[in-house]
Amino acid sequence: MAWRHKLLPYYADFAPGTRRRRPRAAFTSDAGRLDLSGTWLFRLSDTATGAPLNFLGPEPPGEGFTELPVPSHWVLHGHGTPRYTNTAYPFPIDPPHVPDANPTGDHRLDFELPADWRRAGSVLRFEGVDSCFRVWLNGRELGTSKGSRLPAEFAAGPALHPGRNVLAVRVHRWSSGSYLEDQDMWWLPGIFREVSLLERPAGGVADFFVHAGYDHATGRGTLHVDADAPAHVHVPELGIEGLPVGEETSIGGVEPWSAELPRLYDGLLEAPGERIPLRIGFRTVAITDGLLTANGRPLLLRGVNRHEHDCDRGRALDLATMREDVLQMKRHNINAVRTAHYPPHPAFLDLCDELGLWVVDECDIETHGFILADWRGNPADDPRWEPMFLDRMRRMVERDKNHPSVVIWSLGNESHHGSNFAALGDWTRTRDPDRPLHYERDRSYRHSDFYSLMYAPVPEVERIGRREEVVPPETADDPELEARRRSLPFLLIEYAHAMGNGPGSLAAYRRAFEAHPRCQGGFVWEWIDHGFRRRTADGREYFGYGGDFGDQPHGGTFCIDGLLFPDRAPSPGLAELKKAYEPVTLTADPAAREVHIANRHDLRDLAHLRFTWTLEDAGTALGSGELKAPDVPARGEAVAELPELPVPARAAGEVWLTVRAVLAADEPWAPAGHEVAWTQARVRARTARTKPAAFSGRPRRTDHDVLMEDAAFDARTGVLRRLGPLELDGPRLDIWRAPTDNDRGMGPNSAAKDWHRAGLDRMETRTVAVRATGARVLVETHTGPAGTDRALRAHWKWTATGSALRLALRVVPEGPWDGLCLPRLGVRLTLPAAYDAVRWYGLGPGEAYPDSREAARVGLFTATVAELQTPYVVPQENGHRAELRWAELTGADAPCGLRIEGEPHFGLTARRWTSADLDAARHPTDLVERDALYVNLDHAQHGLGSASCGPGPLAEHRLTPAESTFTLVFRTLPSGGAP
Ligand code: GAL
Repeated sequence: MAWRHKLLPYYADFAPGTRRRRPRAAFTSDAGRLDLSGTWLFRLSDTATGAPLNFLGPEPPGEGFTELPVPSHWVLHGHGTPRYTNTAYPFPIDPPHVPDANPTGDHRLDFELPADWRRAGSVLRFEGVDSCFRVWLNGRELGTSKGSRLPAEFAAGPALHPGRNVLAVRVHRWSSGSYLEDQDMWWLPGIFREVSLLERPAGGVADFFVHAGYDHATGRGTLHVDADAPAHVHVPELGIEGLPVGEETSIGGVEPWSAELPRLYDGLLEAPGERIPLRIGFRTVAITDGLLTANGRPLLLRGVNRHEHDCDRGRALDLATMREDVLQMKRHNINAVRTAHYPPHPAFLDLCDELGLWVVDECDIETHGFILADWRGNPADDPRWEPMFLDRMRRMVERDKNHPSVVIWSLGNESHHGSNFAALGDWTRTRDPDRPLHYERDRSYRHSDFYSLMYAPVPEVERIGRREEVVPPETADDPELEARRRSLPFLLIEYAHAMGNGPGSLAAYRRAFEAHPRCQGGFVWEWIDHGFRRRTADGREYFGYGGDFGDQPHGGTFCIDGLLFPDRAPSPGLAELKKAYEPVTLTADPAAREVHIANRHDLRDLAHLRFTWTLEDAGTALGSGELKAPDVPARGEAVAELPELPVPARAAGEVWLTVRAVLAADEPWAPAGHEVAWTQARVRARTARTKPAAFSGRPRRTDHDVLMEDAAFDARTGVLRRLGPLELDGPRLDIWRAPTDNDRGMGPNSAAKDWHRAGLDRMETRTVAVRATGARVLVETHTGPAGTDRALRAHWKWTATGSALRLALRVVPEGPWDGLCLPRLGVRLTLPAAYDAVRWYGLGPGEAYPDSREAARVGLFTATVAELQTPYVVPQENGHRAELRWAELTGADAPCGLRIEGEPHFGLTARRWTSADLDAARHPTDLVERDALYVNLDHAQHGLGSASCGPGPLAEHRLTPAESTFTLVFRTLPSGGAP
C-alpha cells in the first residue's frame, strides 16, 4: 500500500495568505468605517479541523458557542491558557508543520449594515489576528492570512448583504506563521486588534506615500505625496492648495518635526471620491559621515524596547493604555522606542508622531527557537519562506510609511542570518530609500545600516566608541564588508536588562554614549513586565508568569523584566532611567556660585525650561529662588549664576543645594512644573559633633548579662538584648541578601550560584570572646559556612554614654575568598513588630544600590515599613535606602523610638520577613509577616548589574571582601510614637 501524505493545509503551508488585498497605508477618511468590535460568539476546539463549519451562514450557529469580546485573546477569557516561552518553540520544530493539537477558535458576529452603506468595493480589515485565520462573510469565503501583528484586508463587497450580515472567522493558535513569531513573550491567540468594514468609494485613494523632507541648510521643507489615484494635497497653514499627487513643492520657513519638537501640519488629501486628513511632519533622516542624523543633527537615542502588554488584556491594548505608555516615556526622558518585536497597534505610532518619539519599527519576524536545533531548517535561509518574510515586511512598511516618528525599519529580531534578509533589505531600500534599516543578528551587518549589539558591557561600548572593537568573524575575511561595518553608526539595540531589582550601570552607559559620537544610544530591555493579574484562593492579587498557568514548557520569570510593573506602576529602575536619560546635565558649584548647564537635546534649546534652586539645612528649607536661564542651544553649554545663598552661620546639619530644571509651561506630555533634570551639591558638611572625651558607661557583669548604662548584652554571645525599655536581638553580622534576578545571572555570570556554592547563605557564628573592660564591651566573633575555613572575623567595640550606645565594628576576611564577592556587608537587628515607620536623613525617597543610586537625592524622608518594600513580581532583595546619616524607627505601640546614626552613614532595609523568607517566596503573596521587624544596617551592598541577561556589576561596584570598619550609634527616643 502506498503512503498518502496529506497536502499542506492553509495554516501550515508557505503562503502568507490567500486572496488578501495589497498592503497599503493605514488611514482614516470620510468614507464609511464600521467598527466591528463588540461581543461576538465563540467556540473553542482542540484541533484545526475538529469542529464543523456550522457557523458561517445566516442560520444560528451550531452547538457550543458562548460570548467573547473582540478584540481579545480567548485564553484570557477562560478558554485554554496563555503560554510563555522565551526561546523554545512551544511545539516540535518540524517546519512548516504544527501539531494536531492546535486550539482553534471559531468566531462569529451578526451585524447590521447601515442603510446608506456603499457595498461595492467594501473592504474587511483585520488589524491583528494571532496566528492564522480564515474568514467568511455570509457563508462566502473571503480568504486566509498569517502574520499576527500585521493588518490583512479582504474584498468584502460581493459578499455583503444589505441589512443583516454574518461574519465568521476561524482562528488557529499554531500555524506555519508561528515559526516566524518566536519572540520572547506570551503566545496569545485571538482576534486581538480591531476588525472593521471600510467603504472604498469610487474615486477614492487606496494608498498614498507622504514624502515630507526638511533641508536644515535652507530651512525649507519639501513635500510630495504619491498616490495610486488622482488627488490633490492641501496644507492651508503652509499655503499649499491643490498640489497634485506626484508633484513636489518646496516651502520656506517650515518648522521641522523631531521627537523633541514634534511639529505636525494638518493637511488634506482630496480625491474626487474621498477626503483623507493628513498629519505631516517634515523631517529628513540620513546617515551622514557614519552618524544617524535627523534634520542634519546627529541623534542620541535614549530608548526603550516596548512590547505590547496589559496585565488583564495581553496585547489587546486600548487607546488610553497606549497613550499612557507614550506619556510615561516622555515624562521619564525617553526619546526613542523600538517596537520589540513587531509593529505595534497603529494608534501607538499616531501618538509617537503627536507627542514625539523616535521609533524603530520592527517587523514581526523572529525564528530564535531554531538555535535549539543548531539553526537547522532556519526559515531565514530557506527560499520557501521568502514570500512569508517579504509579505511581513511589506505589510509593515506600507502600513506605517507615513509616520514621521518612524525613522528606522527593523527587519526583525534574533533570526540568525540568511538569504531572506537580503530579500527584505533589497525590497525595503527600493520602496523607501529615505529610512535606514536595522538588523542586529547578522553580524556581517550587510543588511543593516547600523553596527548593533545587545547587552554589550560598558567597557565594550567604550571600545566601540574608540573604534577598537574586536572584528566579528563574519567580516574578518572580507575587507570591503568589514570597511562598511566599521563605517556604520553603533546602536545598542538592547541593554540594561531590567529584570527584578535593577538594572545597574545606567549612568555608566550614559557616560559611554555621551563620550563617543559613534555610539548613538540604546534601548533598555524592556518597558513593561509581562505578568498577568491573578488572585490567590483567598482573593489576594498577584502577577503570574511562565508556569503559573500549568504551561509547559515555559520560560518562567524571564518575562518579568520591565521598567514598569505589570499594572504599569513605575519601578525604581524607571526612576533611575529618568535620571540617566536627562536631556540636560546640571552641575552646581556653590563655591564658585555657578551652575553649569549642558543641553543634551539634539535639536532643541532650553527656552522651555525654568531653573530653580532650593537650599536645605538637614532637610529644612532655608531658601529658594529662580536662576536666570541663559540661552543654551541644542548640544550647547552655558553657565548660570547662583545668587548669594542664605547659609546660616551655624547650621543644624548638612546644607544642600538642589537645582532643578522644570517645564516652564504645559507641554502636551506633562504640565508646567514637571521636573526634567536636577542636581545637588553640598554647601556645608555636617558640623562635627563634639565627641565625648571619655565614655562614661562602665560595664558590669551579672549572671547572664553584661550591663553598660541602659544596655544589656548577652554575657555568652555578646549580642545586644536590651536598650532602655527596648528588648531586641542584634546587631548580628549579616551578609546575605535574597538574590536579585540580576544576581542570578546567566551561565557563569551568576553571583548567586557562587554565593550558594560558597555557603554565604548559611553562615554560622561562634563567639570567640566577650570582654567587659574599662569603659567598653568588646566582642569577637567568627562567622563562616560549614565545610570551609573561609570566614569573617568581627571585632565589636561597644561604648556608651548616658544617651548613646556606640558600636565600632571591624570585619576581617579570613581564609580563601579568591574572586568571591559578598552580597552585602552589614548587621541585622530584630526589633518588636510594633515598629512601623522610619524617618531618615540620607538618600531617598526610593531604594538605591551602588550602581543604581542616581535617582536618589539627599533629604529628609519618612515611610512606613510597608512603603519601604518594592513589590517585585518575583520577591528578591529590595527597598535598600542608602547613605543614611541617621534613621529613626517608631511605632505607636513600640516601647520607645530608636535612633540610629552612622559615622558617616549606613544603608537600611526594614522588613517583616527575613532575607530567607524573601528568597523562598515565588510571589509577593507567599510572604507572611512575622512577629518582628528585621532591620538590616549595611556598610556596603554588592552592585546590581544586569546579569540576568548581560553583564554583572562593573568592577567598582563589586563588593570584594576586605577589612572594613564601620560605626553605628544607637539611641532610644522618649516616645515610640511616630515623630
Ligand atoms: C533578547 C531578545 C529579547 C529578550 C531579551 C531577554 O535577546 O531579543 O526578546 O528575550 O533578550 O529578555
